[in-house]
Amino acid sequence: MNNQPIGIFDSGVGGLSVFAELIKLMSEENYIYFGDTKNLPYGNKTKEELLEISGNIFDFFQSKNVKAVVMACNTTSAVTYNELKDKYDFKIFPIVQTVSKEIALKNLERVGIFATKATTDSHAYKREIRKYNVRTEVYEIACPKWADIAEKRLQNEPESIEDIKSKLSIMSEYKPDKIILGCTHYPYLIGILSHFAPLELFINPAKIFVQNIYQDLKQSELLGNKKEYEPKFYVSSNPEQFIMSSKLFYDVNNAEKITISKSLIK
Ligand code: DGL
Repeated sequence: MNNQPIGIFDSGVGGLSVFAELIKLMSEENYIYFGDTKNLPYGNKTKEELLEISGNIFDFFQSKNVKAVVMACNTTSAVTYNELKDKYDFKIFPIVQTVSKEIALKNLERVGIFATKATTDSHAYKREIRKYNVRTEVYEIACPKWADIAEKRLQNEPESIEDIKSKLSIMSEYKPDKIILGCTHYPYLIGILSHFAPLELFINPAKIFVQNIYQDLKQSELLGNKKEYEPKFYVSSNPEQFIMSSKLFYDVNNAEKITISKSLIK
């Protein structure tokens, strides 16, 4: 069981911000990454669409005989985790629910969330953080263009900068103690975000999330113990763009490692 693969997915390169932390902490695992570049952005999709997409991806990972699936995608965690969590017999790690619990323990008064529209509409961060700490006020702001900006590396375009500045200015009215980058694509924008606000204000939840996964697998005695694996990458379209955009977190520089997964293209 220990050396069965770990599946990890997101709508594109975003989940690599989590994957980069996973391989730092757990280097003896057999990883399969799926970037659903064909269906990006998830954040503007309906619950029904996201359920179908997540179900297909979970079935794909089941066919690969995984021991666990890392939902390195806030949107699908927020919208589909509850429906999927009891349907599979592998472990499922959802980013929003895991990170919210840890954020609640920090006992902050005011927390801002930048996330996709589907995530903010679900209020999953607010609900999950306040489940563990009612003292924490949570302000959620949707940034519908940011995943695309990160994916296409448009962060230095004037329109992108204007959009990022305007969301920061709305958020600053809430005077948050911390702002969670509640979409795995947003750490790609940290350079530009930190031009207009202090870097320490932002939390990239990837480290917190991965620590939690590590502890869980350790306690369940499911940690892998072989160094020999090369991660495998699957995308549903456009591998060239995936390779280019990946560079900040994990340089997927060898196209041979990437398989276009036709079965998942809908
Ligand atoms: N990166 C994903 C998330 O964490 C989804 C972004 C998108 O495709 O809209 O929510």
